[in-house]
Amino acid sequence: MEQGRAPNSDESLDRAAAQQEIERLRTEIRRHDQLYYLSAAPEITDVQYDALVRRLQALEARFPELASADSPTASVGADTDARFPNAPHSRPMLSLANSYDLADVEAFDARLRKDLGARLEREPLLYTVEPKMDGVALAVRYEQGRLTMGLTRGDGRRGDVITANAATVSGVPEVLPEGWAAAFPTGEVTGFEVRGEAYLTLSRFQALNREREAAGEEPLANPRNTTAGTLKTLDTAEVARRGLSVFFYQMFPLQVANGADPEPQHEFASHRSEMAAIAGLGLPVNPFLREAAAIDELQGHLADLESLRDSLDYQIDGAVIKVDSRDLQNLIGFTAKAPRWGLAYKFAAEEGVTRLRAITLQVGRTGVITPVAELEPVALAGSTVSRATLHNWDEMERKDIRVGDQVVVVKGGDIIPKILRVLADQRDGTESLVPRPQECPVCGEPTSRQADEVALRCLNPLCPAVLAGRLRHFASRNACDIEGLGGRYIDLFLELGLVRGPGDLFRLDWAAIAALPGWGEKSAERLRQGLAAARDRPWAAKIFALGITQVGVSTALTLARNYGNIEALVAAKAEEMEQLTDIGPIVAREIEDFLASAGGRQLVADLDAAGFFLAAEAVPPPPVVVQGDNWFAGKVFVLTGTLAERTRDEARREIESLGGKVTGSVSKKTDVLVAGAKAGSKLKKAEGLGVEVLTEAEFTAKLAACRTDDDD
Ligand code: IVH
Repeated sequence: MEQGRAPNSDESLDRAAAQQEIERLRTEIRRHDQLYYLSAAPEITDVQYDALVRRLQALEARFPELASADSPTASVGADTDARFPNAPHSRPMLSLANSYDLADVEAFDARLRKDLGARLEREPLLYTVEPKMDGVALAVRYEQGRLTMGLTRGDGRRGDVITANAATVSGVPEVLPEGWAAAFPTGEVTGFEVRGEAYLTLSRFQALNREREAAGEEPLANPRNTTAGTLKTLDTAEVARRGLSVFFYQMFPLQVANGADPEPQHEFASHRSEMAAIAGLGLPVNPFLREAAAIDELQGHLADLESLRDSLDYQIDGAVIKVDSRDLQNLIGFTAKAPRWGLAYKFAAEEGVTRLRAITLQVGRTGVITPVAELEPVALAGSTVSRATLHNWDEMERKDIRVGDQVVVVKGGDIIPKILRVLADQRDGTESLVPRPQECPVCGEPTSRQADEVALRCLNPLCPAVLAGRLRHFASRNACDIEGLGGRYIDLFLELGLVRGPGDLFRLDWAAIAALPGWGEKSAERLRQGLAAARDRPWAAKIFALGITQVGVSTALTLARNYGNIEALVAAKAEEMEQLTDIGPIVAREIEDFLASAGGRQLVADLDAAGFFLAAEAVPPPPVVVQGDNWFAGKVFVLTGTLAERTRDEARREIESLGGKVTGSVSKKTDVLVAGAKAGSKLKKAEGLGVEVLTEAEFTAKLAACRTDDDD
C-alpha cells in the first residue's frame, strides 16, 4: 500500500488510457498463457491470472469498440508444441468459471434457478460435487475398444497428440475388456472419448525427488508442473518411469454403428450415470462424488472435501460443482470458454513451511517502515514464494517471529503471502529477534510512532525513500500518468539532486537532462511533454497525485466534486469533509493535517507556481439531493455498456441529483444496473446477484417519472 502503487480504478480512465491498459493486459495474459501451457512454469497463481482476465473483461465491456476477436478473453490459453503433431478436439476442451467464496456459489445457484425458472417444476435441480484435481487435462479416444489417441488440452480447439505417453498412464488400458460398448446407454457406440485430469501422486513425486537428490539433480518444483512436463516428454520410457495417474470425469460417444454420428440418446442422461459408466469400464474415477439438492448441502460437501484435502495422496485445488442432469445442462448452455452449468470452487489458501532467512525494511512514500520477511523459496499454490509481508512490529511481536525460525507461510486468494505462525518447537536457540529500528534504514533519521498508530515512521520529509515513493506516486497512471518517468529515472534524478519533490519536475533544465547518460533530446522531449500533459489531468487525478495518506482514487473524486479548486481544498476543514460520502473522521483529519503541514504547503506552492493547478477541469457540481421520496433516492447504481442518449458522466449526474449513488462495480450492495448496448460481465454479474437491471430507455422513463413527481 505504501509502495506508491496506484490503486486500480477504472473511474479515471479515458478511452486512450483504456486502450493502453487493454493492450498491456492482453500482452501480459498471453505471456502467462505461454508460461502456463507451454513452459509449464507459471509465475502467478490462478487467482492472480483470473484477476487479470477479469480486469480485461471489464475494460472490454466498458469500451466495447476496443474488443477484439483475438483477445485472450475470446479463447482459452495458447498452446502448440512444435515437437508433437496436433489434432483437433472432437468437442472444445473448455475450462470452468472460478469462484473463491460461498457467496459466488450462492450467486451461481441463484442464477441457475432464475434462468431455469418453471422448468424446475418438472425436474428438480441436482448438483454433483467432486474434487478439482490440480493436474493436467488429458483426452483419450478409443475406437473398437482400442486406444487410438491421447491429446493434451492445447488451446481448447486443438491439442498435442501424445498417444504413446497417454498409454503409460496408470489406469489407461490399450485394449478395453470385451463387451465395453454395453457401458453406453444404447450399446451401439463404436468409438468414444474419455477426458480427465492426469496427475502425479505425492508419494511418487517425493520418490522421484529423492532419486534426483541422490543423483545430485535439481528437485522437481511441484507435482502439477512435473505432470505437464512428463506428458510432453519425447522419451516414452521415461514417461512410463515417472508413473502418472489419471482420474476421468467426462465420457461421450464419437461414433455409433455404421459410422453414424451419435445422437442425444447415445449420451449419458446425467453426470452421475456418466461417472458410473466410466468406472464400469474399469477406468479410474475419483471416489469422492457427492450430490446436493440445496445450497446448504452443497456447502457441507465443499467443507468435507476441504477437510479431506490434507489426507489425500494427490493435490486438489478446489471442488467442481456440476448440474447433474444432461437435459438441464443443455438448457443452461455454455459461454465461449466454459459451461454455464459448472463452477470451480477454489480453496482459499495453501500453506507451506520454510525458513525465515532475514527481515528487511521497506520505507514507503508516507514514511511508514514495513518489515518484510525474506524466506527460503517455497512452492506454494502454483508459484514460488520468497518474501512475505510482516505488516508491523506489533504483529511480529505477537507472533514472536525470529530470524532463523521455521515459519508456516500461507498464500490465499488474496495473493499476498503472509506468515501464519512460527514453529517454536523447532528452535535450536540460534534464532534472533529483530528489534524495532530506532533509525530509518534509508536516511538514518530517528523513527517515530504516533500514539494512535501501529506503524513506525520515518518523519524526515527529505528521506530519499519517501521522496522516491512520492515521485513515483505522482507519476503513476491514476495520478499524473507521466510518460517517460519510470522508477529508474526517478532514482537517478534524486541521486543527482535534480529533484526533491514533484514541483521540481516542472523546473528541470532540459538541456541538462538531454545530456544525462542514457538520455538524449528525444527522451528529454518526451518527458517534457509528459509533464506538460500532466497539467491537463482531471482535477481529481491531481488531488490523488498529491499523495495524501489514505486518499485513494475514489476519495480524490469526492474531494474534486466538492472543492472546485486548490484554494477551496486547502481551506477545507476536517469537520466539513467528514460529512462527505466515503470520507470518515480519520481520513478527513489526515487531509487537513497534510495540507496544513510544512511539506504539504511547500508541495502545493511548488506545483501552483508551475501552473499545475491552473487548468483544473470543470468538475460536476456537488450532488443536489432532492428531498423526500423519489425512486432514485438512496439507491446504489452501476452504469455499464454504451449509453446512446447521454454520456456516463451525464447519467451519473442525473442519478446523483436525485439522491442516488453511482459506483463502479456490481456487488450485493448494488440496487440497480443501467445496461447500455453491448453490456458484458457487469450485466452477467448483476443477473447472477438478482440486481434490478434497466435498459437505457427504462432508465430515461424512470427519470421522467421522477421529474413529473417533483412537479406535482
Ligand atoms: S470438468 C467442460 N471436473 O479443471 C467442463 N474439470 O478449470 C470440463 N479439472 O479443464 C471440466 N478436476 O482440466 C472437470 N473434476 C473435474 C476436474 C476438472 C480438474 C480441470 C480440467 C478443466 C479445468 C477447468
